[in-house]
Amino acid sequence: MISYSEQLSAHQARFQSEGQLFSAPARVNLIGEHTDYTGGFVMPLAIDFETVAVVSRRTDNKAVLYSANFKEQVEFDLATLAPNDKGHWSDYGMGVAWALQQKGIAVPGFNLSVDGNVPLGAGLSSSASIEVAVCMALLSLVDTKLTGPEIAILCRKAENDFAHSPCGIMDQFVITNAAADKALLLDCRSLDFYLLPLGTDTKIVIANSMVKHSIAEGEYGDRRGEVEAGQAALHEMNPQIKLLRDANMDDLRAAKSKMSEASFKRCRHIITENARVLEARSALTSGDMRRFGDIMFAAHASMRDDFQASCPEVDKLVDLAHALPGCIGARITGGGFGGCTVNVVEAAQAETFAEQLKQKYFEATGIKSDVFVCKAVDGALARAGKSA
Ligand code: GLA
Repeated sequence: MISYSEQLSAHQARFQSEGQLFSAPARVNLIGEHTDYTGGFVMPLAIDFETVAVVSRRTDNKAVLYSANFKEQVEFDLATLAPNDKGHWSDYGMGVAWALQQKGIAVPGFNLSVDGNVPLGAGLSSSASIEVAVCMALLSLVDTKLTGPEIAILCRKAENDFAHSPCGIMDQFVITNAAADKALLLDCRSLDFYLLPLGTDTKIVIANSMVKHSIAEGEYGDRRGEVEAGQAALHEMNPQIKLLRDANMDDLRAAKSKMSEASFKRCRHIITENARVLEARSALTSGDMRRFGDIMFAAHASMRDDFQASCPEVDKLVDLAHALPGCIGARITGGGFGGCTVNVVEAAQAETFAEQLKQKYFEATGIKSDVFVCKAVDGALARAGKSA
């Protein structure tokens, strides 16, 4: 991707107007998968891929968007903006403009150039990264200030109701509110969050199975439906259980006959996963990385066997990682059905681990994967604060 100053010059040349630049990272989830939309716990962090949005005001009521990745320019009338079923790249950005309007915030005409290096369809939240970068850009054109949690809620609305993708709050939240060198533990019901230090002796390595994943496709929604059916059965049994987050394994066993076998297994994953996130927090804060790694492997097994959201290639990546020197923990990350694994690796071994994992995965599957040693970086809010 070109530098920030080149992004600004390209915007100036394209639109004959001086732009302001905003950027938002990608994210990887350390643990807490499919827990966000039932009020549970997640522990993601922001990583060093990014979306850049350069914005300038127009004098008319049009939104003109250019994507450097798609090399395409599109134009909308802000007076008639409405969700559609086109599934176009511009949905994520225009969804944010629409969600701002829905909140009663008048968005003036704008030119927007979007560029990014977040791998698409890899489970690293390219769409939430675009939403948050665009949101920061559009907020700079209006008088209203939104808090970090408000930005995350607004961007999730854009994704759910405009781009028709049924995600939870995790991605937009961490991409907005993350801090460098920290993981973010989020309570997805209260939206309280805690920044947890990541040890200096370990590194995060991300391995892309190259099996494409998209949450706008059916499987994520199917799983979510099974989870919500189980949650409804639990609520019917005990009205105190408002969200799956409120249930424990005794409750689930008691309601077993009231739900399908699939719902039972999906809910078992989520109930045990919430417990694993809290245990992982204790392991992290007490510096017990071995324990943290064991919890990651257990979380992977639960996503594979109970949630049934892994795939053979991703399982292979986890198994290969487990056997490599320096590996502390490994698991599938993100919505599932492909995408990436997240690995916690001894810092001194990280580069060799990455090379060997890539090599062994190629030998086993014939697939050339991308494997990155990542940094935990600031979210969009902290970045905007620094450039202001
Ligand atoms: C996707 C969604 C998130 C979350 C994860 C699974 O990344 O966007 O909201 O549900 O899947 O943990």
